[in-house]
Amino acid sequence: MSNISEIFEQKFNRPCETTASAPGRLEILGNHTDYNEGIVLSCAVDQKTTVAAAKNNSRYVRLYDLRADSSAEFDIDHLVNTLKPKWANYPAGVISELTARGFGIEGFDAAISSNVPLSAGMSSSAAFEISILFALKKLFSLDIAPADAARIGQGVENNFLGVKTGLLDQFSSIFGAENAFILSDFRTVEVLKTVAMPEGASILVVNSMQKHNLVDSEYNVRRAACESAAAKLAARHSNVRTLRDVSSGLLEEEKSVLSNIEYLRAKHVVQECERVSSAVKLLEDGDLTAFGQLWWDSHESSRVNFENSTPQLDKLIEFSHQLPGALGARLSGGGFGGITVHLVRNSFLSEYQQTIRELYKSCCDIEPETIICHPGAGAC
Ligand code: GLA
Repeated sequence: MSNISEIFEQKFNRPCETTASAPGRLEILGNHTDYNEGIVLSCAVDQKTTVAAAKNNSRYVRLYDLRADSSAEFDIDHLVNTLKPKWANYPAGVISELTARGFGIEGFDAAISSNVPLSAGMSSSAAFEISILFALKKLFSLDIAPADAARIGQGVENNFLGVKTGLLDQFSSIFGAENAFILSDFRTVEVLKTVAMPEGASILVVNSMQKHNLVDSEYNVRRAACESAAAKLAARHSNVRTLRDVSSGLLEEEKSVLSNIEYLRAKHVVQECERVSSAVKLLEDGDLTAFGQLWWDSHESSRVNFENSTPQLDKLIEFSHQLPGALGARLSGGGFGGITVHLVRNSFLSEYQQTIRELYKSCCDIEPETIICHPGAGAC
């Protein structure tokens, strides 16, 4: 934090008034369940975005991003989503969402630094939105409840950038807990409980280095298929509103009502919700082997039912099956590239990390980024 304050001072020739930080997140289980009002097990991570900011008595926002070593400037009274450099669209979106909610924002300067991998599925955009939002909350004394802060971040994606993402990323970035997974319910929009990170195992992130870009991906198409499946089932069952309300049994009974694509997409979501429920119980019982198997099952369902995996992600999961110490592995987040998460017994971790790097390099000719991630606290 002190570092980002110093960078602010160098760039803007005065001390900052406030600093804020928000972490990236990992989706542990519950893929594409959030916008179906389902449940998700996730965690915030150590990697985070930090912001130092101060008012500048104008109607302009001036930004400096350390990682990109680039600056941006825009007028808060003429917000557009086509700013260059592209990263400036996130803060512009935050201001747009705040203004739409009636919050008065004035000009400010901010320096930004981040070590959340970009476009990888660790929610670098949510970390950016929430860190800016928390800085603005402080700077302009905005009274915003944490769940509403998550909705503002989601609004940036949905309304300003046109991606129909759910609330998971911003929610996890805000509500993350030290050394624990959080179980979130996206119908009631609350954290139901935190579950301690199991002892004896670590989470290794292996980045396929295929940039996933939700705006360009099939994310919105997947969401539409889930919603049309839910609408058909809701028309026949009064207790069904979203896929959250559908059990595997009901889905099989009603299979003929759905198109094949709707059925496959719904199957993934319904079973992911069921896997999240099982996972919490298994973690509480200390059954790491069965918990890890759910990760592999989840990935297999992504591959065959939701079709949000890629050949590269599949390779990484295939390798995990051969490696000593592996408990489970899956893609994490939107899919279509980005990262995989691996649950590995601690005593095998360094060997596992090295071998999977070598295997991926020799099969795909790409050096993967690997990160040992620790579940961490939320934004502050
Ligand atoms: C992305 C979205 C989230 C969620 C995940 C998939 O990260 O931003 O809202 O839908 O994909 O679970």
